[in-house]
Amino acid sequence: GQMGGGIAQVCAAAGFQTITHDLFLTRDNPKVGIGAIRSRLERQVGQGKLDQSAMNATLANLSDTTRLEDLAGCDLVIEAVIERLEDKAVVFRTLDQACPAHTILATNTSSISITEIAKETKRRDRVIGTHFFNPPPVMPIVEIVQGLETSDETLANAKDFVSRIGKRSIFSKDRAGFIVNYLLIPYLLDAMRMYENGWAAREDIDDGMKYGCGLPMGPLVLSDFIGLDTIYYIALVLLEEFREPKYAPPPLLKRMVLAGRHGRKSGKGFYEY
Ligand code: CAA
Repeated sequence: GQMGGGIAQVCAAAGFQTITHDLFLTRDNPKVGIGAIRSRLERQVGQGKLDQSAMNATLANLSDTTRLEDLAGCDLVIEAVIERLEDKAVVFRTLDQACPAHTILATNTSSISITEIAKETKRRDRVIGTHFFNPPPVMPIVEIVQGLETSDETLANAKDFVSRIGKRSIFSKDRAGFIVNYLLIPYLLDAMRMYENGWAAREDIDDGMKYGCGLPMGPLVLSDFIGLDTIYYIALVLLEEFREPKYAPPPLLKRMVLAGRHGRKSGKGFYEY
């Protein structure tokens, strides 16, 4: 997906041998996987922002596979599948079987408990949250989340890794949504409620926050950018943990997700793309 590809690009650009895993091999599709990474790098080379040699070096560090077992040689695996525990659990159980004892299994979850994900493995001390922001090649920060049983050594390794890919770490306890989504998601859900209740036009809600508060994107544009399915699942995790109505997905969001209007990646969300 959009996060996995971006994270792989960042790792490969930093000099790490990187294997991307996807359900389908996507290297020839310019919109996903290694194909999307190549397209982005070619654009940057075309704009004179990146050397051809740097692009070649990044691509040389990348390979792809459809088999999770092919990740058995990795020291670190970063999972970035859909934000649903049952899907992540399958990945972690498989990786736990396939990877040697020293491999750190990290998750890019936006909200799900690291302790709960680690429970799926026999290496609870070597499971950690490394939460990137969209788009990973651009956003300079990674949120590191230590589960109840994550060791200090794993934490130190994760911190070192984040600095070696040129990003800064922030640290959160294992609480639903961690730092950023605990604050961001209720704001996005409120903007959706405003729109759903006919309080204001979508463009005015977005322009209000973009130009009134100096943000790069208004809340409905940002929601489409993140993915409405992702926001819906994060909201459910927050609601389950904190039981406060402000985390409840608005009815319109649920309907849009059911209808496959997942935002920019599906061509339609609050706006059309
Ligand atoms: N992948 C890689 N690079 C991308 C990209 C993508 N999908 N989209 C844009 N970029 C790069 C461009 O190549 C460009 O790079 P250069 O400066 O080297 O040319 C740079 O980003 C700026 O892009 P643009 O000039 O095209 O557009 P912009 O100035 O409008 O910036 C943006 C685009 C960086 C996405 C900016 O609008 C922004 O910061 N938006 C807010 C994003 C945000 O809030 N992200 C966090 C979401 S929350 C989250 O991710 C956590 C979660 O769990 C839900």
